[in-house]
Amino acid sequence: MREAVVMANSPSVPEKLTVIVTGASAGIGRLICLRLAKKNYRLVLAARSVDKLTHLQAELTESGCECIAVPTDVADPNALEALVKVAMDRFGRIDVLINNAGIECFAVFDQLPLDQILQTIETNLTGAIILTRHVVPIMRIQGFGRIINMASAAGKHGPAFGAVYGATKAGLIAFTQGLRGELLRVGITATVICPGFATDGGVYDEIIKATGRKTPFFMGATTAQRVAAAVEKAILTGPPEMIICFPALRPIFLFRDIFPRLGEKIILAVTFKFFRRAATKKK
Ligand SMILES: NC(=O)c1ccc[n+]([C@@H]2O[C@H](COP(=O)([O-])OP(=O)(O)OC[C@H]3O[C@@H](n4cnc5c(N)ncnc54)[C@H](OP(=O)(O)O)[C@@H]3O)[C@@H](O)[C@H]2O)c1
Repeated sequence: MREAVVMANSPSVPEKLTVIVTGASAGIGRLICLRLAKKNYRLVLAARSVDKLTHLQAELTESGCECIAVPTDVADPNALEALVKVAMDRFGRIDVLINNAGIECFAVFDQLPLDQILQTIETNLTGAIILTRHVVPIMRIQGFGRIINMASAAGKHGPAFGAVYGATKAGLIAFTQGLRGELLRVGITATVICPGFATDGGVYDEIIKATGRKTPFFMGATTAQRVAAAVEKAILTGPPEMIICFPALRPIFLFRDIFPRLGEKIILAVTFKFFRRAATKKK
């Protein structure tokens, strides 16, 4: 299946794909690595936490996966250049880039410290754009590449009390669309993944723990495991956009596009209280 789909898109694809995963040390990124390690990929693990990365690298190597850990702060442009260099020195190519590193930023907007705003944008959006800028020339020479950007349902409709976070994720969605249009003809696909709340670890799980409240059913939810499975599917098939959530959110966004005021009212009715609690971290 893997070979069939990948080979259909490009004649120059190696047996083992080399994958950079940012935000590999925890949550969804870690699960992506564990999943891909079982499926014949070479991995380049990037995040800031040296201990967690080293531990994961040891675990994956033990299981037979070729992988390296490269401590990286994606908000530091020099570190991103170094990451690509280390990956190329070791594996000689980069087939898949997974821009997964991200931080949440739920707060009363006008109480947000400026450095938190900048850190969120640099981590979630600027870092992904700059890293992609370093990787695309390599993929062009290869005639093959997959770029997978981890956005969020928050990028499809900016959440109250999460305007900055939503802006970075909406930015990733538009970035992916533009990039995809430009690169499809040279064998490179860009895919954006928009998960709903993952209830088994990760940024939203932290919010749920802090507030003591589960997300309302109609806001939808998913699991980090399902998101990791979606990433693997994106590598195989290179689709434009995947919204990973149950109940499905796409019909709600479609309704909101056709009836903006009513759509907004419904979305706020379902989400406002939860996000206000997330912003104030009140139980
Ligand atoms: N979990 C959800 O419900 C959910 C829903 C929608 C979208 N998402 C998105 O999915 C992605 C992963 O989220 P998660 O829930 O797995 O979060 P998480 O458990 O908090 O993990 C975030 C990862 O990003 C890394 N990271 C943070 N800042 C970084 C930086 N400056 N440089 C390099 N790495 C950095 C962290 O590693 P270090 O701290 O070691 O650097 C960690 O590995 C994020 O982009 C998030 O916005 C998550």
